[in-house]
Amino acid sequence: CGIVGYIGRKDSKEILLNGLEKLEYRGYDSAGIYVLNKAEDGYLFKEKGRIAALRKKVDESVKATAGIGHTRWATHGEPSVRNAHPHQSISGRFTLVHNGVIENYEEIRDAYLADVEQKSDTDTEIIVQLIAWFVETENLETIDAFKKAIVALEGSYALALMDSEKPDIIYAAKNKSPLLLGKGDGFNVISSDAMAMIKETDQFVELMDKEIATVTREALIIEDFTGERIERAPYTAEIDLDDLEKGTYPYYMLKEIDEQPAVLRKLLLKYQNEANQLTIDQKIVDSILESDRVYIVAAGTSYHAGLVGKELIEKMTHIPTEVHVSSEFGYNTPILSEKPFFIFLSQSGETADSRQVLVKTNALGYPSLTITNVPGSTLSRESTFTLLLHAGPEIAVASTKAYTAQIAVLAIFSEVVGIQKGLIKHGVMLRDIGIAANAIQSIVDDKESIEELASEYLSTSRNAFYIGRGMDYHVALEAALKLKEVSYIQTEGFAAGELKHGTIALIEEQTPVIALITEKSVAGHTRGNLQETKARGAHTLAISMEGLNRPEDQIVIPHVNPLLSSLAIVIPTQLLAYYCSLHRGNDVDKPRNLAKSVTVE
Ligand code: G6P
Repeated sequence: CGIVGYIGRKDSKEILLNGLEKLEYRGYDSAGIYVLNKAEDGYLFKEKGRIAALRKKVDESVKATAGIGHTRWATHGEPSVRNAHPHQSISGRFTLVHNGVIENYEEIRDAYLADVEQKSDTDTEIIVQLIAWFVETENLETIDAFKKAIVALEGSYALALMDSEKPDIIYAAKNKSPLLLGKGDGFNVISSDAMAMIKETDQFVELMDKEIATVTREALIIEDFTGERIERAPYTAEIDLDDLEKGTYPYYMLKEIDEQPAVLRKLLLKYQNEANQLTIDQKIVDSILESDRVYIVAAGTSYHAGLVGKELIEKMTHIPTEVHVSSEFGYNTPILSEKPFFIFLSQSGETADSRQVLVKTNALGYPSLTITNVPGSTLSRESTFTLLLHAGPEIAVASTKAYTAQIAVLAIFSEVVGIQKGLIKHGVMLRDIGIAANAIQSIVDDKESIEELASEYLSTSRNAFYIGRGMDYHVALEAALKLKEVSYIQTEGFAAGELKHGTIALIEEQTPVIALITEKSVAGHTRGNLQETKARGAHTLAISMEGLNRPEDQIVIPHVNPLLSSLAIVIPTQLLAYYCSLHRGNDVDKPRNLAKSVTVE
């Protein structure tokens, strides 16, 4: 979910709707805004579905210069107008938006609100009812009721509250979920992400956990629960407005696939020193050299980049590396080595599953590195070190350029550490990542042929397989995820050799099986496995790398350093997913049920 708030002189509903459109990547199953004018008239608009649907419902004639808004990714309660935010107290005096999950909402309801009629199925509603309850039954001032309610909450939240009797204030607070306060001239804003309000201001102040903000037209006041004032200087959010637009592209996903060569070249520039050598902060290198084991923790596509990262780190630095899904690691922690070093991979830097692990490793005092696309994101702020992806905003929900950028950063990182350990004499990544960028360029330049293959292989199928061995297996997992996410075809990524041990039972006449072949030592075996599926009726497709290709292969990618084969071989799989989704008439950039940044566990 994502939240916004504005208090100033301009038409608040327009600013809120524009902001929510930029936050749509965080969830898009329902949305709402509440605007309040100085005469204390409040207007609430909510709609199921996208912001575009909400926009149609908003009464154009309403005049107000303050308000709050929300776009939802449902956790408690189905997507519906009833469950959409903002939520209101029974009297309608208090209105609230919330991003996060309140874990003890049932206890709170039973303790305080047994007699209060519930208007939704959400965990959020109890917060606003509780605030109203404190004001009405304990005669508390709004700010005190807000604080008291927050103290009672367990879980994650970024909150914005309005009181119709105080139209000049927005109250805000956060715990775990991100929230920024934006400073303007004669106005102020709040937002889950700077991107949503960058049109209004580029000056942002981070709100920290367990802090409360009182936002008026003229001031941003931050305090802790005891009422102690906190001064914090704003930072300048460096977001290029042009990067947020699709330009001539029909979808962000295609734009972002096409951007990958440029992203890799930019990375090479960002990580080069004056002597034209790849470099990273020496403190990171020192810290990793002191450690005895690397733990990569990530979710989704970033987890798949981590699997490739393990190969790179182990091959180039000889440091044993484990890769873990963050939602499992935090609660089912493996036995750690004596001197662990944690790497958090996260495009957004906000994934709650990953953050809860970081909170635990921080408490244990272990060093950590976050590799993220978003400077200033929660994971970046809270870990010891950060390396940036410099990929520009990734807007399509299905991640593409962040995956390749993560792998490239991990390759640079591994080479720099490998050189310092004396394991590598002459670095090749500067040259070879550049060669990979050229390979990607030639693949995206020939996308029409991949579009045809998408029609031929994937237009009617209900399920599909990607298979590979070694590095290709890791990419097969990501390729399968990409196809699932945007096409809704049930796809499995499989270790090619393992398929025959059970899963081959699923192969039917015309089931698409796509083999990825970039590793010389196992190419023959993977081809054999592909043949086994063909013999059972599969519609087989081979994507191979030059040098290992055979005349029958449908896609041949240019030769790259085998350590970097994932960078190139993933591209046709991204394009297959894109075209398949397009041909099926899906919303490519906003697949059903998903959100780009999942800030709940
Ligand atoms: C969400 C997105 C995925 C993404 C995952 C991890 O589930 O839909 O595309 O891979 O979160 O996100 P992160 O920002 O931590 O890389």
